[in-house]
Amino acid sequence: MSDSAARQEVAAVVVAAGKGLRVGGDLPKQYRRVGGRAVLTRTLAALADSPRIGRIQPVIAPDAADFFSECVAELEPAHREKLAEPVPGGATRQQSVAAGLEGLARIGAPDLVLVHDAARPFVDEALIARAVAAGAEHGAAVPGVAVSDTIKLVEELSPGIGRVHETPAREALRAVQTPQSFRFGPLRDAHRRAVAEGRDGFTDDGALAEWAGLSVVVFEGDARNRKITQAADLIEADRAFSGQTFAD
Ligand code: CTP
Ligand code: MG
Repeated sequence: MSDSAARQEVAAVVVAAGKGLRVGGDLPKQYRRVGGRAVLTRTLAALADSPRIGRIQPVIAPDAADFFSECVAELEPAHREKLAEPVPGGATRQQSVAAGLEGLARIGAPDLVLVHDAARPFVDEALIARAVAAGAEHGAAVPGVAVSDTIKLVEELSPGIGRVHETPAREALRAVQTPQSFRFGPLRDAHRRAVAEGRDGFTDDGALAEWAGLSVVVFEGDARNRKITQAADLIEADRAFSGQTFAD
C-alpha cells in the first residue's frame, strides 16, 4: 500500500436497488444464490474482507429489507460489523449511488469512496487495492479492461438495425467496471450538482464525474470481474462459485 493510500479512510457504497430485469425471474439477481450464497452476500463479504475498507453503505430497494436481512445473516460477524444500516435506493442507478453517498455523509464522510455494483461478486482484494491506490493518487479512478471486439458507434435506424457513424480505434477503448474510486467530497458534490441541474441516468460514476469536470483515470480492471447482467451470467457465476468454501 502506498503511503498516501494507507492514510486514507475508505468506505464503499454497494448499489443493490436494481430490479434485475434482464436476468428475469421473480427475485432480483442480487438476491439469487450462486454456489449456495446470495450474490449480494458474496459481494459484501469480498469488500468487508478487505482491510482497506472500513465501512460499507448498502443501498437497497425499499421493499427488499427482508431479502437484505437474509444476506446479512449469511455474513461472518467480522464482516457484518462493517455494514451501515441500508438506505433506500432510487429509480435509477445514479439516484441509488447518490442515496448511498448521503447515507455515508450522515455517519461521517470518508476520505475515499469505492462505488460498487452488488451484481459484481467477483471483486477481489487485488482489484480493491488497485482501486484504493488509484483513487488516492488521482481523485477519480475507474477500472477498465481492453476490449476484444471492435466497437462501432451507431445510430438506431429501426429495431436491430443501426447506421455506423464511427469505428473508434480499439487500442484506445476500455470496458469499464466497478469498484470505481473517488475522493468523497468531489463525488458527492458532483452528484448534488447533477440533481440540481436535472441530470439523471448516468450509468456509471466515472461518466458523472467527467460531466462535472473532474479528471478521471482508468486503472487496470479484471476480466473475471464480470457484472451479472443476463440469465447466463447467473448460471456461470453459480458454476464458478460452486465447489468453493465461503472463505475462498
Ligand atoms: N442499481 C441500483 N438502483 C437502480 C438500478 C440499479 O442500485 N435503480 C444497481 C443494481 O442493483 C446493480 C447495479 O446498480 O447492482 C448495476 O445495475 P444493473 O446491472 O443494470 O442492474 P439492474 O438495473 O438491477 O438490472 P437491469 O438493468 O437488467 O434491470
Ligand atoms: Mg439497470
